[in-house]
Amino acid sequence: MAQTILVVDFGGQYNQLIARRVREANVYCELIPYTKVEEKIAETQPIGLIFTGGPASVTEPDAPRISERVFESGIPILGICYGCQLMADTLKGGVGEGPREYGRRVLEVTAKKSALFDGVSKKSNCWMSHTYYIEKLPAGFVVSATTETCPVAAIENAAAKLYGVQFHPEVMHTDEGFKMLQNFLYKVCGAKGDWTMSGFVERSVAELKAKIGDKKVVVALSGGVDSAVAAALAHRACPNLVCVFVDHGLLRKGEAQEVDSVFRVEQGMNLITVDASAKFLGALAGVTEPERKRKIIGEQFIRAFEVAAEKLGDCDYLVQGTIYPDVIESGFNHSAKIKSHHNVGGLPAVMDFKEIVEPLRSLFKDEVRRLGFELGLPEHIVMRQPFPGPGLAIRVIGEVTEDKLAILREADYIFRDEIAKHGLDKEIWQYFAALTDIRTVGVMGDERTYDYTVGLRAVTSVDGMTADWARIPYDVLQSISDRIVNEVKHVNRVVYDVTSKPPATIEWE
Ligand code: XMP
Repeated sequence: MAQTILVVDFGGQYNQLIARRVREANVYCELIPYTKVEEKIAETQPIGLIFTGGPASVTEPDAPRISERVFESGIPILGICYGCQLMADTLKGGVGEGPREYGRRVLEVTAKKSALFDGVSKKSNCWMSHTYYIEKLPAGFVVSATTETCPVAAIENAAAKLYGVQFHPEVMHTDEGFKMLQNFLYKVCGAKGDWTMSGFVERSVAELKAKIGDKKVVVALSGGVDSAVAAALAHRACPNLVCVFVDHGLLRKGEAQEVDSVFRVEQGMNLITVDASAKFLGALAGVTEPERKRKIIGEQFIRAFEVAAEKLGDCDYLVQGTIYPDVIESGFNHSAKIKSHHNVGGLPAVMDFKEIVEPLRSLFKDEVRRLGFELGLPEHIVMRQPFPGPGLAIRVIGEVTEDKLAILREADYIFRDEIAKHGLDKEIWQYFAALTDIRTVGVMGDERTYDYTVGLRAVTSVDGMTADWARIPYDVLQSISDRIVNEVKHVNRVVYDVTSKPPATIEWE
């Protein structure tokens, strides 16, 4: 097991970024709700804790708190923003409403010697976002950095290994924030940097061998990056592995053939394709609500895998490519539930498999890609744009019908074709068409039309957790729009989605 840092979630907006930065520093970490901190400490024996920011104020009676015991446990702690104020307040310092700071500030390191600021410039930019500040230091603490407006920008009690920063070292705008996090991990917590992809492969293969060995196992392969990497990993450990690709009738144009040629023909995997489109579309008939669609699809997937497993006989395990953001976004943590990813919150309560095995459950998307390369998968698989398990069902807004799917497939195909032709496919993280449920009036060949509106969505992102809309050149948008309205029957209008995530999500449902 790799050394572990627990990132204790107090509901701040940058929490996942903190976790990713720790991983980038080659240290394994888990993001956990603050209510579970003592339980998780006992379970994981962490080498350090990071307390995140959060929207609450420690001056409120029902603010999230943790026991003083945690601060006395001897485990190094770095408190960020709310986490820093919580540390000060719990240890009997004082927090009050003070110099508000939002945005960039010049941080001045005032400590003569501080492990946290070792090698950090005396003056550098940091990113602030706070209304409260530390008015009174707890016993044993000193101020280690200030800004022009905030006299207490960082505090520490080096002997107790307790550190706090009012600013956010995890964001890019804090110029030397990554260095500070590395200092905390390596110079305070004694990290060894043992979170590497080769180490992960070794540990996961050993775990899969111990759990599944040469028993039969089904791998749910969707053709996307995550399931491809999960399959490749399981392939290393389990000789009796069958990849099952479910054609749910919600695939993009040409997708089923492509998956077969890539995974069976090119990669030599034991792949079978199950045509379950009638079942999926039947179960979705008349359903318009996005969460219901997702739950139905989650259930249908499992049923399709059960049928495949039954045919194969004696198959207790199902491997699927659930990744960490799926787990987090399905509401396991403190964060609000946004949508049920089909492979997490969408699972039915009763399943015929003895166990669902999710070897990538702890990985972020960029880590999954690195793992894919580590396992020797080719770039065109590892760098494929993501495609959601529920497929086009969450891109046909409202009821899903064969007719609407056919319209969407054509429009989406044209969009992808044009993006590739213009050489933009590598720089745009994900791009697809959605079929809105809106019909509007148009005019074609002097005739009035009353047809569908297609929405184009294209985003840049690192991991899908946050995203910005891609600045596709106007002339490219023009050729996409021209082709769609000319070539796809029943579409007379094309719109481009210019919303980032947040506040929107990448998919429309
Ligand atoms: P959202 O829409 O939540 O999407 O911003 C973030 C990323 O996740 C993909 N996505 C899914 N992937 N099952 C999946 O395997 C799902 O249920 C699902 N929902 C969204 C989406 O395409 C984007 O890349």
